[in-house]
Amino acid sequence: MLGAESPREPAFDAESLRERALTSLVTARERTALLTDCVDEPDLTAQHSPLMSPLVWDLAHIGNQEELWLLRTVAGRDAMRPEIDSLYDAFEHPRSERPTLPLLPPAEARAYAAEVRGRALDVLEGAAFHGTRLTEAGFAFGMIAQHEQQHDETMLITHQLRTGPQVLTAPDPEPAPLFAGPAEVLVPGGPFTMGTSSEPWALDNERPAHRREVAPFHIDTTPVSNAAYQAFIEDGGYDTERWWAPEGWAHIRKHSITAPLFWHGDGREWLRRRFGVTEVVPPDEPVLHVSWYEADAYARWAGRRLPTEAEWEKAARHDPAGDRSTRYPWGDADPAPEHANLGQRHLRPAPVGSYPAGESPLGVRQLIGDVWEWTASDFQPYPGFRAFPYKEYSEVFFGPEYKVLRGGSFAVDPVACRGTFRNWDYPIRRQIFSGFRTARSESV
Ligand code: AVJ
Ligand code: FE
Repeated sequence: MLGAESPREPAFDAESLRERALTSLVTARERTALLTDCVDEPDLTAQHSPLMSPLVWDLAHIGNQEELWLLRTVAGRDAMRPEIDSLYDAFEHPRSERPTLPLLPPAEARAYAAEVRGRALDVLEGAAFHGTRLTEAGFAFGMIAQHEQQHDETMLITHQLRTGPQVLTAPDPEPAPLFAGPAEVLVPGGPFTMGTSSEPWALDNERPAHRREVAPFHIDTTPVSNAAYQAFIEDGGYDTERWWAPEGWAHIRKHSITAPLFWHGDGREWLRRRFGVTEVVPPDEPVLHVSWYEADAYARWAGRRLPTEAEWEKAARHDPAGDRSTRYPWGDADPAPEHANLGQRHLRPAPVGSYPAGESPLGVRQLIGDVWEWTASDFQPYPGFRAFPYKEYSEVFFGPEYKVLRGGSFAVDPVACRGTFRNWDYPIRRQIFSGFRTARSESV
């Protein structure tokens, strides 16, 4: 139920949530269209990287998940095309083998997703937002909008991996004055509320709200910049074994990794390829496309460490002047453009120190948006976790193989981004929009 964390928790009513669900579904579909209408048929069905599905797989998978949850489960309808279910089950077919499947061709995939959507909007109109767990506060509709937006981020990653001329454009973020604030802030020790039991569309792994004790620590005011990361490279960071976790060292040696993904040197300066255009690496932008191992090695070189997931969330949600955790660093208001770089409205992170209106009460900036931030923590359930509505969203991934990322990137839509939102990936991965900030324990 809503409102367990504190009496001051914002209240939600069913009709505004129904409106929000409709807007979120429509926004997601516009984004999906933008990402799939800009390339031709061979490009949609090609596999641009073995790490990714063909774009046409994401397209029909989005429709298939929507059919499964909103039409069959919520509304009790029969399967529209039962023969295609297994093609779009992410667990039956790893990404690498998806191009060999008899996938729906682009026109059919689009028509299927559109047909499902038409029926889903009818279901939304009449659904009870009270009484059943799946549709309480519109959860299933919010979950499906988030699912589509997550695949929209995945498709943007595919676009970044794709070679060939530029097909996507967006205005750059505002240039920011060189950040002149303190490099780090002290987050006081003590308990805070981690996770949520009241955010209506929070996914299972964000629940329930629980108290966590966190020792005092310092955290970077901004994400680590390209300039700072270049200093690590130029200091021989990639050639110095002692900065690296053993598996990370083995990995970068085996694959000859010497810089973030998509970077190359011309002997004079660092260049990078970004959505089909080559540019000089901008020194004041947060570093992007680094693995957990690279983030961890940089932090050790800097005499620091990655923040734990609990430290990150305390920095993002704890207001020392209040007694509860806020939804976002700036408070409880939904993200607006002045708070954070979200929603693919720019196709790059904003300079470090941007978005003063989005800073936390302690002055930490860009916790939300710009780059996903690697944390030191493995992906584990919170005490009292219950898989909902399916084990394959989170539960099957819990364990030491995955590291948690927090805060969302420029590619994440606000519907799939909160102070409590958890993402995870293998520590070698760097095709994702990943960066980091560092921390250190308060010395006593
Ligand atoms: C939460 C981003 C790790 O893409 O694997 C999409 C999200 N789950 N469809 C993923 C997801 C099912 C998931 N991540
Ligand atoms: Fe999915």
